Amino acid sequence: MPLPEGFLQELKLRNDMTEVASSYVSLKKRGRNMVGLCPFHGEKTPSFNIYSENGSFYCFGCGVGGDVITFIMKIENLDYIDAVKFLAQRAGMNMPEDSFDDSMSVLRKRIYEANRAAAKFFYTTLTGKSGAKGLNYFHSRALPDATIRHFGLGYADENRYSLVNHLKSLGFNNNEIVQANLAYQNKNGNISDRFYDRVMFPIIDLRGNVIAFGGRIMSDAKPKYLNTSDTPVFKKSSNLFALNFAKNSDEKALILCEGYMDVIALHQAGFTNAVATLGTALTPEQALLMKRYCDEVIICYDSDEAGQKATNRAIDLLRNAGLLVRVISIPEGKDPDEFLRNKGDKGRDAFKNVIEGSGNDIEYRFRKMKTKYNLELSEGRVGYLNEAVKILSALDNEMEQDVYVSTLAKEVGVTPDSIRHQIRKHSRSKYNKRQKDNFRKLQSDLNGRNDKINTERYKKQRVTTAEEGVIAYLVKNQDKLSYISSQLDENKFQTEFNRKLYSYFSERIKNGDDALMSVSGDFTPEETAKIFRIINSDFAKMANDETLRENIGVINDEYARLKLSDISSASDEDIQERLRRLRDNRK
Ligand code: UTP
Ligand code: MN
Repeated sequence: MPLPEGFLQELKLRNDMTEVASSYVSLKKRGRNMVGLCPFHGEKTPSFNIYSENGSFYCFGCGVGGDVITFIMKIENLDYIDAVKFLAQRAGMNMPEDSFDDSMSVLRKRIYEANRAAAKFFYTTLTGKSGAKGLNYFHSRALPDATIRHFGLGYADENRYSLVNHLKSLGFNNNEIVQANLAYQNKNGNISDRFYDRVMFPIIDLRGNVIAFGGRIMSDAKPKYLNTSDTPVFKKSSNLFALNFAKNSDEKALILCEGYMDVIALHQAGFTNAVATLGTALTPEQALLMKRYCDEVIICYDSDEAGQKATNRAIDLLRNAGLLVRVISIPEGKDPDEFLRNKGDKGRDAFKNVIEGSGNDIEYRFRKMKTKYNLELSEGRVGYLNEAVKILSALDNEMEQDVYVSTLAKEVGVTPDSIRHQIRKHSRSKYNKRQKDNFRKLQSDLNGRNDKINTERYKKQRVTTAEEGVIAYLVKNQDKLSYISSQLDENKFQTEFNRKLYSYFSERIKNGDDALMSVSGDFTPEETAKIFRIINSDFAKMANDETLRENIGVINDEYARLKLSDISSASDEDIQERLRRLRDNRK
């Protein structure tokens, strides 16, 4: 059952779109709207728009859009009902009771509870009489009890039913345990533990919920780490290990590592700003998540080849998210954990030195590059210079560019001006390429190849655009429904999505409801974004009585053409009938 209209209305009234968004994004006034840097993708010029007239947002950069509920779903990573609850709480409102389907919300709550119970159980096992194997392992890796407690580390023993039995005794059912990915289900419907004979690392979100686990085997067997797969409460691509602690650190930068053990060793040594990805390469979502808590990221990956590859990838992602980037190369040892352990008591100071001696991402790339060329030879110098120009022309900041130009000029023995000249030449060609790419994208947007929601647009551009014009007009002028329906039969909408949308809005308006009030609850996030794009586009802003008449004309016209085009397969009677109707329409 949907949420009551009156409740949604009050919820939206008390949670102003602009006000809610501005606690996450810094907004500037532009015309009647507000704009800012989009929190959902990395960008340097603002394309994130807030439309206070209809309480919505839309980003023309990444195509995300919706109402205030959609915004909270996205930014807080919540489902619909939980986002509504979040906003209700923010405004001091009570949720209406039992009036909506919150089965997903209930399941999520149960999964959080099961995870918390599991974390407790693993910790109790570790510190109890059957935990010696796990405890010895952690001790052998130089983790004292205080660290174990702080991170809530645990042990899943060899028995394949320990956790399952425990959770069942607490009243969790098979479905909840399996959906939490704490157990596997076999063909007979029986369930057994996913994690056994492993030391356990709980993953905790920013609200303090246990959302997942990583489990490490204590031998050389594979896989070394087993992680929770995505569940209704966990998406590994948009969470970071230990961000719950790191967000409270006083440092302006976050340290990004590869492994759980690296993060724990760093926190233990006082670097409480360390975080790690969860067994996957860094994602754009994670980069944006970090951007919410810091301005700079220090990449601290393993010094092996895989680690270096990952470093290059991470540099690009982090820069694109608008972050400053530094790169640490750990001298001895392979990863931060080993480095700290080798240094013993001196670990903290030694690592501080490493951070202080670290260069930014450009210096890192220069250093890597230099090892490839012999600067004694002119060939080497030319190769080096060419590659350097490529790196430097990617920098937006001219001052930053200048610093490297001077060093580079001295290093290779050419004038700074000639380097600047090369950079300009390179930027121009790159600029051209980018312009071409943008143009191509624009073109394919225009001809509708990119429309994932209304897939018929591509074949029916003229009528699709007219349909959207009518829909935008209707939402803006909800009192004109009866006029529009007197001029236009709903069945003449040719694209299915727009027909559905038009009929949805008409129905609501007829019932006396606001057309847009529960779009975010009634459509998928992708559809919602599309709907708010239709409503907020420049094209929609032009919607007036005159364009409405034109658009209705186009729809009627295209409908008549459609009917004529399949006339060859029609019977004589049919044709007579259609021609008659066509004449009626023209009147
Ligand atoms: P590493 O192999 O570098 O692990 O993988 P590590 O943290 O140094 O582990 P120790 O020191 O041997 O205990 C880095 C990260 O990649 C993920 C884990 O998140 C790990 O922390 N990983 C690695 C997996 O998810 N599965 C694996 O099988 C291996
Ligand atoms: Mn390690």
